[in-house]
Amino acid sequence: MIRRMTTDDIPAGMRLKETANWNQTAQDWENVLALEPQGCWVYEAEGKIVGSTTAVTYGEDLAWIGMVLVLPEYRGRGIARALMEHALRYLDARGVKCVKLDATDMGRPLYERLGFVEETSIERWAGTLNPTSPPDDLPVPAALVDVEPIAALDRAAFGADRSRLLGRLSETFPQDAHYLPGGYLMGRPGVREYFLGPCVADHAAGARRLIAHCLSQYATTRMFWDLLPANQDAVDLARSFGFEPQRKLARMTLKGGVCQPGNVSQVFAAAGFEYG
Ligand SMILES: CC(C)(COP(=O)(O)OP(=O)(O)OC[C@H]1O[C@@H](n2cnc3c(N)ncnc32)[C@H](O)[C@@H]1OP(=O)(O)O)[C@@H](O)C(=O)NCCC(=O)NCCS
Repeated sequence: MIRRMTTDDIPAGMRLKETANWNQTAQDWENVLALEPQGCWVYEAEGKIVGSTTAVTYGEDLAWIGMVLVLPEYRGRGIARALMEHALRYLDARGVKCVKLDATDMGRPLYERLGFVEETSIERWAGTLNPTSPPDDLPVPAALVDVEPIAALDRAAFGADRSRLLGRLSETFPQDAHYLPGGYLMGRPGVREYFLGPCVADHAAGARRLIAHCLSQYATTRMFWDLLPANQDAVDLARSFGFEPQRKLARMTLKGGVCQPGNVSQVFAAAGFEYG
C-alpha cells in the first residue's frame, strides 16, 4: 500500500536509507517533507515501511524525484515501480512540465523502463578540503541575509526557481550558507560526510573563494561534493582542493517533458540527488 509520508515516518526513512548506505540525516528528510508535504510517499507491506519516493517540485516547471529506496528483502517485487508510477501520476495531475532525477546504477533500469533518458552525468567527489590550496583573504559574508539575490543566480544556472529550497536550506543550516556578488554556496552535515553544495557562481574564481572560505569552518572534515563533469571548471576546482571522484550517476529526464535549460558552466556543486 502506498501512502503519504509524514514526519512520524522519518525513523523508518532513516532505516531505509541506511540499507543503501546513504548520507542523509533526519533533518534532510524533514526538509524534503517540509518542501513537499504532499509529494513524499512510503510503501507499507506486512505492517512496516519497506519503500519510499519523494518528488520536490519547483513550481510547475520542474520536479525532482529522489529517495527511491526499497528494503533489500523487498526488492524485485515491483515496489519501486509502483512508487514511481504513483509519483509520476501526482506530478502529471499537478501539471508539472519536466521531471528529472539522478539515477544510481541500481535505479537506472527502472527509470529507463518508465521513459527516462540520460541528459548528462553527475559525479560524487569526496575529500577533505586541502589547506594548501591557494589562500583567499577576501572577505565573504558569513551568512546569508536575503535569499532573493541567490535565487536569481540559481534560477539562471539551474533552469528553475529553487527559492523555496534555498530558503529552507539557509534557514536550517544558517552557518553553512554564504554569498558573494555573483555566487553562493550552501552546505550541510551528513550522517558520515559533510555535504558541500549547492554552489552556483558566474565564474570559477567566485566559486573558489566561497569554497576556500569553508576551510575556516571545516578544514579537517571529510566531504562529498556532487558536480557535473560537463563543467570542466568545477572538475578542476574539486581536484585543486584535493577531492577525488568516487561514483558516477546518470542525470535523467522524463521523455516528452518541456524543460528549461540552465547554464552548466555556473553550476559548481549540485544540491543533492534528491534536489537536483
Ligand atoms: C533501485 C531500487 C529502488 C529498485 O527497487 P525494486 O522495488 O526492487 O524495483 P522494482 O521491483 O519495482 O523493479 C522495477 C523494474 O526495474 C527492473 N529492475 C529493478 N532493479 C533492477 C536492476 N538492478 N537491474 C535490472 N533491472 C532492474 C525490474 O526488473 C522491474 O522491471 P519490470 O517492471 O519491467 O519488471 C532498489 O534496488 C533500491 O532500493 N536500491 C538501493 C537504492 C537505490 O539505488 N535507489 C535508486 C536511487 S536513483
